[in-house]
Amino acid sequence: MVKSVNLAIIGTGVVGSSFLSQLASIKSTNIAYNVILIARSQKSVISKDYQPIDLSNWKSTVEAASQPNLSSEELVSYLKASPLPVILIDNTSDAKIASTYTKLVQNGISVATPNKKAFSDSLASWESLFQAASQEGNGLVYHEATVGAGLPIIGTINDLVATGDEVEKVEGIFSGTLSYIFNEYSTAAPKDVKFSEIVTVAKNLGYTEPDPRDDLNGLDVARKVTILARLSGSKVESPTSFPVQSLIPAALESVESSAEFLEQLPNYDHELQKLKDDAAAENKVLRFVGKVDLVNKIVSVGIEKYGYDHPFAALKGSDNVISIKTKRYRNPLIVQGAGAGADVTAAGVLADAIKIAQRVAK
Ligand SMILES: NC(=O)c1ccc[n+]([C@@H]2O[C@H](COP(=O)([O-])OP(=O)(O)OC[C@H]3O[C@@H](n4cnc5c(N)ncnc54)[C@H](OP(=O)(O)O)[C@@H]3O)[C@@H](O)[C@H]2O)c1
Repeated sequence: MVKSVNLAIIGTGVVGSSFLSQLASIKSTNIAYNVILIARSQKSVISKDYQPIDLSNWKSTVEAASQPNLSSEELVSYLKASPLPVILIDNTSDAKIASTYTKLVQNGISVATPNKKAFSDSLASWESLFQAASQEGNGLVYHEATVGAGLPIIGTINDLVATGDEVEKVEGIFSGTLSYIFNEYSTAAPKDVKFSEIVTVAKNLGYTEPDPRDDLNGLDVARKVTILARLSGSKVESPTSFPVQSLIPAALESVESSAEFLEQLPNYDHELQKLKDDAAAENKVLRFVGKVDLVNKIVSVGIEKYGYDHPFAALKGSDNVISIKTKRYRNPLIVQGAGAGADVTAAGVLADAIKIAQRVAK
């Protein structure tokens, strides 16, 4: 018998578009995935009678939509009245949408998302969200793509913890942008290149945020580390409650434009150059790393040195890597691969939606 589930998809940007095309090509014989809502920032397509929206031309359907977005309360009421179980797919980075998850889950609606906001906010909101998701009859919450895009990181840590293993240390490179920058800047084979040059190349290749300072401030990595720490059993209060090293020279923090920032960055190259030279003298490279050490109760984000034979030193391109040391995995379990990009991220979200559907579809 074919079961069904309704999907409400918010966000049709880089990840959302890829999610919709992957969904259209899904080969499921036992679950039908019906899309009942597609929303962008200013407008939505909403199926008032909960009949599936035709996805064959979803882009033009959304383009032609004139319906304004539902308020949070209206969204919860609309989804709650669905005759089939609902999964909300939040493909935005919107904090307001993230703040409705608990209410949605309490009303039986599940959530699959790559949006980090709900999981890296205060510890109290994390606890109330997962407390709600653990109650019989409430919605489920899956967020694999909030760290490492589609890489199996969150599911792996959850499985380790659920089976009684104890995480001792989680350490990794969680920013594709900073992975690229350091993989190019600090190499085992001597390379005469300046930090500012690599940042400019990364910006020109479209690897950085429009203002590279949004990558260099370390905050995105801090949000991911907050999530990993909490999953591993550390009650981290927020992404600003532990040391986070910023790669932005203090004098350039308040420089107005990103162009001006890039223009002045060469004046500060000597600061990192010294670190790089010191590392090379020890046969080591520099990497920008997030760390959760549960044994010594240390959480941190910043530059670390690794020997040439360490897996982090051999990283290529903009890959992410995570090393998880547990009571069972004395030799750390390592996951590595693309940690950003539309297709891998969307696949992570879709895999979560499928896992939820397998549990809730009717
Ligand atoms: N891109 C990646 O490689 C990657 C990797 C890992 C995780 N992620 C995460 O995936 C999420 C989406 O990233 P993205 O790169 O796809 O972003 P994006 O291209 O900027 O797309 C964001 C989408 O969300 C919509 N949106 C924003 N606020 C909204 C609101 N209040 N209500 C309804 N729709 C709203 C936007 O609407 P408009 O179309 O009207 O602007 C747009 O369609 C983010 O949380 C990001 O951190 C992305």
